[in-house]
Amino acid sequence: MNLLHTLRYWTLATLLLHVGCAPGPNAPGHASFVYPLPIPPLAESRRDGEGRVEFRLEAREGTREFRAGYRTATRGLNDDHLGPTLRMARGDEVVVHLTNALPEATTMHWHGMELPAVMDGGPHQMVEPGATWSPTWTVRQPAATLWYHPHPHGATERHVYSGMVGMILIDDDGSFSDGALPDTYGVDDVPVLVQDVTLDADGQLVRHKPWYNQVGPLGEMVLVNGAVTPYHDVGDELIRLRLLNASLSRVYAFGLSDGRAFHVVASDGGLLTEPLLTERIRLSPGERADIVVRMEGGDTIRLTSHSPELGTDFVNNRLAGGQDRFELLELRASDTLSTSPPLPTRLARIEAPDPSAADRVRSFKVSSSTINGLSMDMRRIDAHIHRGATEIWEVGGIAVPHNFHVHGVRFRILDMDGHRPPPEFAGWKDTVYLDPDTVTRLLITFPEQEDDVPFMFHCHFLRHEDDGAMGQFLVGSERP
Ligand code: C2O
Ligand code: CU
Repeated sequence: MNLLHTLRYWTLATLLLHVGCAPGPNAPGHASFVYPLPIPPLAESRRDGEGRVEFRLEAREGTREFRAGYRTATRGLNDDHLGPTLRMARGDEVVVHLTNALPEATTMHWHGMELPAVMDGGPHQMVEPGATWSPTWTVRQPAATLWYHPHPHGATERHVYSGMVGMILIDDDGSFSDGALPDTYGVDDVPVLVQDVTLDADGQLVRHKPWYNQVGPLGEMVLVNGAVTPYHDVGDELIRLRLLNASLSRVYAFGLSDGRAFHVVASDGGLLTEPLLTERIRLSPGERADIVVRMEGGDTIRLTSHSPELGTDFVNNRLAGGQDRFELLELRASDTLSTSPPLPTRLARIEAPDPSAADRVRSFKVSSSTINGLSMDMRRIDAHIHRGATEIWEVGGIAVPHNFHVHGVRFRILDMDGHRPPPEFAGWKDTVYLDPDTVTRLLITFPEQEDDVPFMFHCHFLRHEDDGAMGQFLVGSERP
């Protein structure tokens, strides 16, 4: 660092120490839990003439009252804000009819789904106003919590922020020899979709990013399933929370207000090998984790976000929300709880990743507006990948927090900065946080099916994605 740089750094650091914000609605000690947690309805489905499980989604405009007395303009699917949960089973052939009732084009991406690229809903599958797009695919992957959101090139952040987001649950056989996972939707198996927002004086959503903030907009309040500090009544000993970080740029370190430990049972791409006891789980934008919390009769505890470890220096940490703490959701147990079956001791069979299976290695450097120095170009293919190939991707983020998401696949993390991934991230993933200036190595097996349109890979801090931190790969039969 030269002198000027050092000086600027410390001026900023000192300044920051003095900026305090008024406590928002989620501030620890100030949060009041007045409204019940909204549970996104399960989307209705029926068998169509071809035996496919058919869903209908309509992207539309609406309003929501996030602040008493103010109608905030929002968007949703089949609703004013957010969308229904799509529940499907492994082996299902599904079709989703997405109608765009918005005044502008959008797309719908099935984040985490293994499907043909033309069904993926990335920036190449724009849906014009008034049009209906009907992607169809067969679910070939195991039980997992996925999600859907728009992906128009250069405008993903705005479309996601307005509320066009929902969850997808994939069910799989699910029989365990010595226990069970809570699975009654909305009762002991609860979606927890987290988005931070800022409202202006008129109560409208604004995406404010001060010049010195390098990560993207950070909201002042955090919505859980679209509500501010809701509560959920718990009647069973065990409750499963399907945590989804649907935020633009905020990283959360989820935990419980009394510091009690919980079990992580699934990561982005499916169940872990066994329940993992921990007190914290860090999720960056796009990541999911299913956790199971054990309640005692009469308990009142809160799902909180503690200051997340971002791996940055002091200033960048502060600017990226690394010191922010939130109370998100209150869990209220009744005095007597129904007995839950024990958690299974084994959840899934996952082999140790074998790097020697890789056909080649590629490296990616993610900055706030480029990958490997190139800004996203819809006409450029950044990687030609042989169908069915297994590759090691070495991914590094430059200077500030980034993460990395690959479409159409699930991957394993070989190592992060030379260390084995923490156990909660040792299973199947599709999005991974990148500690600044370190290298994360991923082992990825690509689809067998050839495509003539590309899949995306990108930083899921959506401002970075929109600004160009995205690239495209094409799965084909040519050997690169
Ligand atoms: Cu969650 Cu390319 O997206
Ligand atoms: Cu980034």
